[in-house]
Amino acid sequence: MKKLHIVSNRLPFSIVSEDDKFLLKPSVGGLATGMKSVYKDFEGRWIGWPGIATDSYTVDQFKEIEGLLDKEGCDTVPLTADEVHTFYEGFCNRTIWPLFHYFNQYVDYSPEFWESYVEVNQKFADKTLEVVEDGDFVWVHDYQLMLVPGMLKAKRPDITIGFFLHIPFPSYEVFRILPWRNELLGGLLGADLIGFHTYDYERHFLSSVRRLFGYEISFNQIHIDERIILADAFPMGIDYDKFHDSAIKTISRPMQEKSTLHKELEKYFLVSPDRKLILSIDRLDYSKGIPNRLRAFEKFLEKFPEYRTKVTLVMLAVPSRNSVPQYQRLKREVDELVGRINGLYGTVNYAPVWYFYRSMPFENLVELYSMSDVALLTPVRDGMNLVAKEYVASRTNQTGVMIISEMTGVVKEMGEAIVINPNHESQVADAIKQALEMPIDEQRARMSVIQKRLKRYDVFKWAEQFVSSLKRIAQIQTDFLAK
Ligand code: ADP
Ligand code: F6P
Repeated sequence: MKKLHIVSNRLPFSIVSEDDKFLLKPSVGGLATGMKSVYKDFEGRWIGWPGIATDSYTVDQFKEIEGLLDKEGCDTVPLTADEVHTFYEGFCNRTIWPLFHYFNQYVDYSPEFWESYVEVNQKFADKTLEVVEDGDFVWVHDYQLMLVPGMLKAKRPDITIGFFLHIPFPSYEVFRILPWRNELLGGLLGADLIGFHTYDYERHFLSSVRRLFGYEISFNQIHIDERIILADAFPMGIDYDKFHDSAIKTISRPMQEKSTLHKELEKYFLVSPDRKLILSIDRLDYSKGIPNRLRAFEKFLEKFPEYRTKVTLVMLAVPSRNSVPQYQRLKREVDELVGRINGLYGTVNYAPVWYFYRSMPFENLVELYSMSDVALLTPVRDGMNLVAKEYVASRTNQTGVMIISEMTGVVKEMGEAIVINPNHESQVADAIKQALEMPIDEQRARMSVIQKRLKRYDVFKWAEQFVSSLKRIAQIQTDFLAK
């Protein structure tokens, strides 16, 4: 029977070492959290890196790691510390990530990073080739593995390959800056179906293909010799019911069974019932616009003094890529900004910003989503932003207001939210006031429309549509060759 295998750098679980033992910890990030909900429905394996360098374990311990991941249906691609440095921290996160998020000034063009990217992509391709059987489908994910489709197609033209990009595809004027632009595009064109979160990213990709390679493109089909390649937009959804049902349970739990976090949040409201919470949740990444969010919140407290002591920003940031210098600098900048705002506007029993620099269990995330009056998400660039969708799904009584950056992929599905330019501090400050003062009826009217849309197109539907397009293109290709 034909199987569908997933290939991505991050697996749904990362290995962490605690007290000389290896444990599985759920991975954070849109790719891992989204695909984790669907991958068990496919008859196939998930091939990826376990999140820990080979230098941190012995050969016997590697067997233990492989065993743990095997139980979860995953196959391991081990990476050395050197590869983690030059591939993951290097070409992935110091070259492609900043370039595709329009941070040109951060891009590192070191050729050794590129060489490592080619070698490590080959490792992932080789591992996949060990697993695939005749006629199988392979679904490769994200910018870390853009050469893998080409490497697979070169060896196994019989398998059908899908690729999904979880980050923006930048405009041609930005993409062309990269010295290895042709190699990356060539790698992607090994896939039969190439998916993006939005139509704009798809358009940018097709424009790069046209200008760099001059291939014939009709509508969204690329024709190369005997091959037809399809590019399409598939906005990724979330496991809507999981968040919604869990939020219902959270709210109805008796006091003695509530978590410590929940009890602490309730105490906050006890002091004064008209207090409000604003929530933000992200990986600590410069693309997420955390400093501009803090400055906008500071401006809000300065502009509207009546809200001081009445509104708290709960800011949850999960540590990410902290060996990369820009992430270290961002961490220092955020620490300083939080300190400054709390120093300026804090009192003995009021802290304007509650800042948590850690990952949180699912239950706590849902508690935060369901207890916060406003979600404030201000990325300066974001492929999608699943956090926005998770907030909406957790609002069981349809109240709550979403303030969302126009630079995200998710904004296309959130026309009813308050949409802001994240670089316009005073506009964001006004949006916070508007959100806090929005009448309940209006909140419900806006929220219920977004909820219906997100429930209908959840992560299962997203995966189903991608896979059925993959099957369709396989059929189109077969019919074309038979003519
Ligand atoms: P990205 O893929 O760039 O990290 P997304 O918003 O699309 O951004 O996805 C982030 C995912 O990681 C969400 O599913 C979110 O719930 C999860 N996440 C983010 N921050 C935390 C945190 N501090 N603790 C636990 N999970 C988190
Ligand atoms: O969703 C975008 C993404 O870059 C994924 O590819 C990645 O797994 C996730 O964010 C988190 O980043 P990282 O894998 O570097 O921790």
